[in-house]
Amino acid sequence: MDDTSFPQPSITAKAITEDQIAATNTKDPTIFSLKAQLLDQGRTDTVLAATEDLSVRLKIYASGGENELHAHVDEDHVFVLLQGSARFYGPDSETVDLNACQGILMPKGMFYRFHATSENECLVLLRIGTPNFQKQAKDDRLGMNGEPLISDSKENRTQSVIFKDGVFFGDSAEVGT
Ligand SMILES: [Fe+2]
Repeated sequence: MDDTSFPQPSITAKAITEDQIAATNTKDPTIFSLKAQLLDQGRTDTVLAATEDLSVRLKIYASGGENELHAHVDEDHVFVLLQGSARFYGPDSETVDLNACQGILMPKGMFYRFHATSENECLVLLRIGTPNFQKQAKDDRLGMNGEPLISDSKENRTQSVIFKDGVFFGDSAEVGT
């Protein structure tokens, strides 16, 4: 991960919060590339841009997904599939299969989970949510029991990250200066 010409992943849930809040510290336009290192194992989450009202993240999954049913009680958000495929589940085990160039909008409070179904390539998602953390309840991500469910917790079946050496999604994306 020597290349710092694009944002680096936020490794923990705490780092995602901090990086999203830090990204709001500008009144200038934020230019970003949809570029991230692909994975042999685990998942990454990279903050691309944010204001107090909006966050934009790039998520990579070698396998798995958001593994346990949960809802973001204060945040509407959209997933757009850029590569790979995924199966989304609702609270009554209803499912929908999505492929690249499709997306899904989760209204605040909607319980869901998903996992990658593409076996030969990573699932790559653009995630856009509103509002950003500053305008959400402290515990926005709740499990079905109403208790906080942290995304990088053991309960959410987090695996350690193994990067694919030198292999990137969006490799041709160059941000001009
Ligand atoms: Fe989620």
